[in-house]
Amino acid sequence: MPELRQSIAQHYHERTKYDPETIASRTHRLDWAKQPVPFKEYKIGSSFDLKPYIQEKPENSSNFETQWWYRLSRLLLCSYGLTAKMPSMGSAVYLRAAPSAGGLYPAEVYVISRGTPLLPPGLYNYQCRTHSLVHYWESDVWRALQEACFWHPSLEATQLAIIITAVFYRSAWRYEDRAYRRIFLDAGHLLGNIELAGALCDYRPHLIGGFVDEAVNELLYIDRQQEGAIAVVALADLLDIKQNLPKLQTALPSATETDYPEIPDGELLKYFHKATEIQAGVVNKFHSPPARLEKSLEDKYNFPFCQKISTVTTPINWGEKLQQLEVTILKRRSTRAYNGDYLTFEQLKALLDFTYQPQNYVAQNLDISPDYFDLNLIETFVAVSGVEGLETGCYYYAPQAQELRQIRFKNFRRELHFLCLGQDLGRDAAAVLVHTADLKTAVARYGDRVYRYLHMDAGHLGQRLNLAAIRLGLGVSGIGGFFDDLVNDILGIPADEAVLYLTTLGRPR
Ligand SMILES: Cc1cc2nc3c(=O)[nH]c(=O)nc-3n(C[C@H](O)[C@H](O)[C@H](O)COP(=O)(O)O)c2cc1C
Repeated sequence: MPELRQSIAQHYHERTKYDPETIASRTHRLDWAKQPVPFKEYKIGSSFDLKPYIQEKPENSSNFETQWWYRLSRLLLCSYGLTAKMPSMGSAVYLRAAPSAGGLYPAEVYVISRGTPLLPPGLYNYQCRTHSLVHYWESDVWRALQEACFWHPSLEATQLAIIITAVFYRSAWRYEDRAYRRIFLDAGHLLGNIELAGALCDYRPHLIGGFVDEAVNELLYIDRQQEGAIAVVALADLLDIKQNLPKLQTALPSATETDYPEIPDGELLKYFHKATEIQAGVVNKFHSPPARLEKSLEDKYNFPFCQKISTVTTPINWGEKLQQLEVTILKRRSTRAYNGDYLTFEQLKALLDFTYQPQNYVAQNLDISPDYFDLNLIETFVAVSGVEGLETGCYYYAPQAQELRQIRFKNFRRELHFLCLGQDLGRDAAAVLVHTADLKTAVARYGDRVYRYLHMDAGHLGQRLNLAAIRLGLGVSGIGGFFDDLVNDILGIPADEAVLYLTTLGRPR
C-alpha cells in the first residue's frame, strides 16, 4: 500500500527541524540593513493615553471612570507593556512583559471596542512605547468580528476584545522558515500574561482560535502579505454580572492539506500559514459546553515498573489581592546564565503546581480552568540535572496523577548543552522542561491549524513556568532552538512526540 502523504503541518515540522548534520548550512548571516522594527506606527488616528492610570492605584477612588481606565491600562501593561530598556550598540532595546524569541516581538496587540461609555467603537492598536491606544478606525466592527468568529458566544456578551496578530518578517528575518514556531510560542506567552493580568483586573479572557482569517485580517485593515491575525480574545468584564460566562470552546479545525507542491526554502512559512487558515464559507460551530475541552482523566504514559514520585504540594502564594503576581509579571526577565546550583524538590513541585494545577489557585482568585486550545494534546517531560532529593534523569510529568514517572536514569547535562545548540543555559539549568505533542493525532483532530494551537498552548504553559520561577526567586528561560529528533532519542521521549518547546529552570548566576 502506498504510504499516505504527510499533511503540510507535519511536512513543515520535518522541514524546519534542526539537525547537527545540516545546522551549519541553516545558519545565515543576519542582514542588519533589513533589521525589522518591532513597532507599528500610525500616521492618523486619535490617541488614548493610558500612562496616567498606571502611576497610582485608585484604591479608594469610587470614580467609575478612573477605575475603568486603570483596569484596561494595567491589563495591557502586564500583557505586552514595556518593562525594561537595555542599552544596545549606541541605542536602546526595549523589553516587554512577555518574552520573545530573539527579542524580535513579532506580535501586535489590537483592542476592539463594541462601544463602551469610555472607549468609542472601533479599532485600536496598542502602542507599547507610549503606553497608549491609537484609535485608527472609528466605525463599529463588532458584528463583523462576531461573524468572522463563527458567532462565538463570548462575543455576544462582551464589549471589548483583543486581537493578536503576527508580523511574520520580524521573526523570519532571523529564524527564516522556523520562525513560525517561535511566533506562536511567543504569542502563547502573551496569552498567558493576558490570562493572569485579566485576573488582576477583573477580566475573564475567552480565547477564540477558530475564525475566518481573511475576514479578521480585513476587519483590522492589515497588510496580509506581512501580518496575520493569530488569536482573538473576548474580554469579559467580571464586574458586570451579564459577562460572567461559562467556559467555552476555543479551537476549531481547519482543512488538512496533503496535496501541496514543492515549496522552496524561505517560502515555507508563508505557504504554511495560508494552509492553516480557515476559509470563508466553511461551516463551523462552537459548542457550548465545549465538546472536547474536558481534561482527559488518564495521563497518556504509564510505564510499567517505573519509579513514581508525587508532586502534590502547597500552592505558590501570590500575596494579598494577587499583588505579587503583578510585581512578578512586571519584573520577569529571561535568565541569561545559571550558576549550576541545585533547585530543591519543593521548588520544582511548586513550579509544576502553578503551571498545571490551576484548580489549586481558586482561593487566590485565579481561574481554576483558564482557556487553552486543547491541553489534552500536550505532554510534558522533565530532564532533571540538579534537583535535591530527585535522581537525575528524564521523567514524564503526569498532570492528572500529579506525579513524575521516571523514564531514564542519567545526568544529561552534557547532552542538554548539545541539544540546546550549545547554549550554556541547557547545561547549567537544574531542570529542563520539554513540551511535546503527537502531531499525527493532533492534525487528525484539528487539521493543520493545530500547529498554531499547539505552539500557543506550549508558550502559555511556558509563561506560567516563567512567572512561577521568578516568584520563587529562580531563573528561567525558554529555548526555541534545539536538535529536534535528538531530544527524543537522548532523553527517551517516545518518537511520536514532536518536541515543541523547552523551558530551562535553575539558579541565576
Ligand atoms: C519562544 C522563545 C524562545 C526563546 N529561545 C531562547 C533561546 O534559545 N536562547 C536564549 O538564550 N533565550 C531564548 N529566549 C529568551 C529571549 O531571548 C528573551 O525572551 C528576550 O531576549 C527578551 O528578554 P526578556 O525575556 O528578559 O524580556 C526565548 C524566548 C521565547 C519566548
